[in-house]
Amino acid sequence: MAAQSKVRRIGVLTGGGDCPGLNAVIRGVTKPAQDYGMTVYGIIDGFEGLVEGRAIELKNEDVSGILARGGTILGSSNKADPWHYPVEKDGQIVITDKSKEVVRNYNAWNLDALIAIGGDGTMHICNKLQQLGVNVIGVPKTIDNDLDATDLTFGHDSAVFVVSEALDRLHTTASSHHRVIVVEVMGRYAGWIALNGGLAGGADIILIPEFPFSWEKIYDKILKRQLMGKKFSLVCVAEGAKPIDGEMVIKSSDLKRHDPNQLGGIAEVVARKIEENTGRETRVTVLGHLQRGGSPTPFDRILSTKFGAFAIELAAQKKFGRMVALKGSEVKNVKIEDAISKRKLVKPDTQAVFAARAVGISFGV
Ligand code: F6P
Repeated sequence: MAAQSKVRRIGVLTGGGDCPGLNAVIRGVTKPAQDYGMTVYGIIDGFEGLVEGRAIELKNEDVSGILARGGTILGSSNKADPWHYPVEKDGQIVITDKSKEVVRNYNAWNLDALIAIGGDGTMHICNKLQQLGVNVIGVPKTIDNDLDATDLTFGHDSAVFVVSEALDRLHTTASSHHRVIVVEVMGRYAGWIALNGGLAGGADIILIPEFPFSWEKIYDKILKRQLMGKKFSLVCVAEGAKPIDGEMVIKSSDLKRHDPNQLGGIAEVVARKIEENTGRETRVTVLGHLQRGGSPTPFDRILSTKFGAFAIELAAQKKFGRMVALKGSEVKNVKIEDAISKRKLVKPDTQAVFAARAVGISFGV
C-alpha cells in the first residue's frame, strides 16, 4: 500500500516571462528524479500546454548540456492563466475559465505532482490549482526579484550582470563625449534591477518606482558633477520609475495578460527633460530583453540547481503547496499561499540604498 502512494509521475513547467537559469532548474529537477524512480513530464509552453494537453517525457539525455543555456527548453507563455485564458471566437478574443481542462489533463497524465517554475503570476495560479486538488510545488524565478518570500529569485543576478556591463561600456563613451546617458532597465513595479545594476555599474543617479523622484534633484546632481569637472553622468532608470507629480509610463496594454500593463519609455522622458533643463547633450539606451536572454551567471546556475534539486526532494516527501525559497544562504520552503501575499519592494532602509547614498549616488529624492 505504501509503495502505491509513492510519488511516481511529476510534471514540470516554466510559466511567465523567461529568464536565465530556467534550464538549470529543469535539469536540477529531472536528473535526481531518476534516482527516486520518478518519471518527469515536461509541459510545453507553460500553462498553455497544461490547458491544451501538450507534454513530453524528459529523460537524462534531454537535460544534459542545458545548464548554461538561457531561455527554457520547454517554452513558456505569459498569456495562459487558466482562469483568464484568451480564446479566439469569431475573430474576437474571449477570456475564458479553462481551469477544468488543467485538472483533466493533470489526471489524464496520472501526475502525482506539478513543479511550476515562475514568478508572482505563476505562484498565484499554483495557489488556485492547489485548491482544486493539484499537488503543486513552486520554484521562484524572475529577473525582477520582487517575491517577498524568498531573499532572491534566480535570474536576477544575470540581469544585474547585463546592466552592470552595459553601464561599464556606456561610461567610457559618455565620458569621451561629455554626455548624459540614461539607461532604462526592467523590473516592473520593483526597483531591484536598477538599484543593484546601478550600484554595480557605478551609475550617478538611480531612479526606481519605490522612490518617486524630483526633477530638480536630478538636474542639481548633474550640474554639481559638472562643477566638479565631471562633464558626463550615467542615469539608471527602472521602467516603473515615476516623478513625484507624474505617473508610470505605459508603453502598451495587452488584455490577454493578467497584468495588461507593458511598461517602457521613461528613459526618453527623463533624457528630454535633462537636456532641456541642464543643457547637457543626452542619449538613451534601453536594455530591454537583453536582460532576460543569454547564459545565466555562475551564481544563478548554482541557485537554480539548488532550487531544482530541493523541489524534487519536496515532491518525494509529498510536501505540496510549498514554494522553495532562499533564506540567507539556505534553501528552505514556504507555503505558496504566504509567498503570494506580498511583493518585495526596495525600502528606504534597504542596505543597498544606504550603500548607494554613501558613495554619492542620487535617487532624485
Ligand atoms: O517580469 C519580467 C519582465 O521582464 C519585466 O521586468 C518586464 O516589465 C516584463 O517582464 C516584460 O514583459 P514582456 O517580455 O512580455 O515584454
